[in-house]
Amino acid sequence: MKDGKIRFTLNGRDVVYEDSPLRRLLDVLREDLGETGVKEGCGEGECGACSILLNGKLVNSCMIAMGTIHEKELMTIEGLRETEQGKCIIDAFADAGAVQCGFCIPGMVMAAQSVLQDAPRPSEEEIRKGISGNLCRCTGYDQIVQAVQMASEKGAGLW
Ligand code: FES
Ligand code: FES
Repeated sequence: MKDGKIRFTLNGRDVVYEDSPLRRLLDVLREDLGETGVKEGCGEGECGACSILLNGKLVNSCMIAMGTIHEKELMTIEGLRETEQGKCIIDAFADAGAVQCGFCIPGMVMAAQSVLQDAPRPSEEEIRKGISGNLCRCTGYDQIVQAVQMASEKGAGLW
């Protein structure tokens, strides 16, 4: 960051950012980079709607300042859904009837990816813990847990 530029990769492509290091990553993703699958719910790190993977770890992008992401690797739902893993998770959410209003789903899918990266055959407890930072007002969570279990079974070998 010697030249004041923040460089990072987003879904595998190189990005150079030259605006304020204080802006929220969520805003830059949505407003500058067109990643509108990343949602703003609470804006306070409580709902998980803005979840992305940062160096492979699930984070709330509303709580991250641009100045902290230099040379890091970011993946959003836009990138994940192009992968076999992402397709498998998204299909499982549809098959399990886990999508109602859909607002929480991009963040939930990112959380599911994080769970399956850590434990390709997760227990129900591991799934519930892994999605505990993501709020859903519609489904009651049971179908979401089932969707992650289905993705784990159908996508065996992908993680
Ligand atoms: S919008 Fe980021 S956690 Fe709710
Ligand atoms: S499906 Fe509506 S908030 Fe989760």
